[in-house]
Amino acid sequence: MVIILVGGQWGDEGKGKVIDYLAAKADMVIRSQGGNNAGHTVITEDGEFKFQLIPSGILYPQCTCVIGNGVVVDPIVLLKEITQLRERGIEPKNLIVSERAHMVMRYHPLFDQLEEEVRGDDRLGTTWRGIGPAYADKVRRIGFRIGDLQKEGFMRKKLAFVVDQVKNPILTKLYGGEPYDWESMVGEYMGYAKQLDPYIKDTFPLIQEALDRKANILLEGAQATMLDLDFGTYPYVTSSNPSAGGALTGSGIPPTKVDLTIGVFKAYTSRVGYGPFPSELTDDVGDQIRERGHEFGTVTGRPRRIGWFDAAVARYSCRLNGVSVAALMRLDILDDQPLLKICTGYRFRGQVHDHPLANISHYKHCEPMYDEMPGWQSEIGAAKCWDDLPAQCRDYIERVGELIATPIELVGTGPRRDQFVTRGRKLFD
Ligand code: GDP
Ligand code: IMO
Ligand code: MG
Repeated sequence: MVIILVGGQWGDEGKGKVIDYLAAKADMVIRSQGGNNAGHTVITEDGEFKFQLIPSGILYPQCTCVIGNGVVVDPIVLLKEITQLRERGIEPKNLIVSERAHMVMRYHPLFDQLEEEVRGDDRLGTTWRGIGPAYADKVRRIGFRIGDLQKEGFMRKKLAFVVDQVKNPILTKLYGGEPYDWESMVGEYMGYAKQLDPYIKDTFPLIQEALDRKANILLEGAQATMLDLDFGTYPYVTSSNPSAGGALTGSGIPPTKVDLTIGVFKAYTSRVGYGPFPSELTDDVGDQIRERGHEFGTVTGRPRRIGWFDAAVARYSCRLNGVSVAALMRLDILDDQPLLKICTGYRFRGQVHDHPLANISHYKHCEPMYDEMPGWQSEIGAAKCWDDLPAQCRDYIERVGELIATPIELVGTGPRRDQFVTRGRKLFD
């Protein structure tokens, strides 16, 4: 069975926790896009793990964890993540990196930062991890792939060209920076090559073989639909396609093999970085939710912007990705709210829109429309089953399900592994 898991809002919905839940029965978890701009949290009896590049199934030894061709891999960060796992007694023998995956090179984070600085007030609020510049080089066909690490002569020749002819002229002439020395970079990258060598493989035969034997394969989406390069709030997006289509091109899984797409949503909304956010709360309620939910970025530590659940966004995500099952996470963060609002659409130029607008300049003039519901004002963290949830909480979940026209099968009631309420549907056999 093949399951695609996508973030349905602007990221940090709790994807890591859902992956961890599903990975218990998965044979393979594949990351297919993004890079170390992602931060996926998994909490087990052994404490908290924050995965940036390594798939969130790595804690299950039976589960092969693939960093797919669509991911951009910073080798420095990957090696650090491997070391951190080893320090906690976990040897990632089940990790594989596609030789087709592109690398975030030493200069990409610097260019990310410099480009943001020159944008001034129009900056996007990127994570400065070099993600956009790495994908741009991939498209310009001056990128380096992980497999290139195994070809020293090729690396030498290409680094000489890219660094001297493309990167250094921009760095020195446009930004007044210090040039990179490609010769020393060759040595540096050969060091990474040696350490990463055991993990680098052509993932095509591996994934095809897993499909042939009908293995349980889980595609771990990073970022989210509203950060999608094509369908998000462009240009306030990331540089990959975190929606379902990207999962396929980023892994090499054919569309006809997908059995199910799961959308992961927060019970409210958060966003890191700039860009439109129609249901944003700039009042005390937003501050309360941020504090109670410790809503500070996993990767950058920035305070996340907070807003009410936006059903127009979530319904759009469900339709765009073909989501047939939804997970609604972090409901417990709303435990103490007396009144809850759900954005059902936007009023713009006298018309009601029930989906996000393509032209982001229109958001300035659109007015969100809200349904109001009473809160449950009690702790749900100990709920073990649907009937343990307070009536108002069940009503909220049902209303969200109705508005997004998708059944909510998984409900997050706390950060721990066991803090899940399921509606009984088997997702992996
Ligand atoms: P991801 O990027 O979608 O994997 O999400 P992050 O890990 O960046 O952020 C989600 C945060 O919420 C993490 O700190 C999780 O441990 C936590 N979390 C996940 N599900 C729940 C839940 O149902 N309730 C609470 N309180 N926390 C949750
Ligand atoms: P996970 O997988 C939340 C946001 C950044 C910024 C925009 C572009 O943990 O949900 P980038 O560095 O990608 O060029 O930044 O995208 N962003 C995320 N926000 N969660 C993420 O990942 C994100 N990855 C990127 O904050 O607004
Ligand atoms: Mg995250």
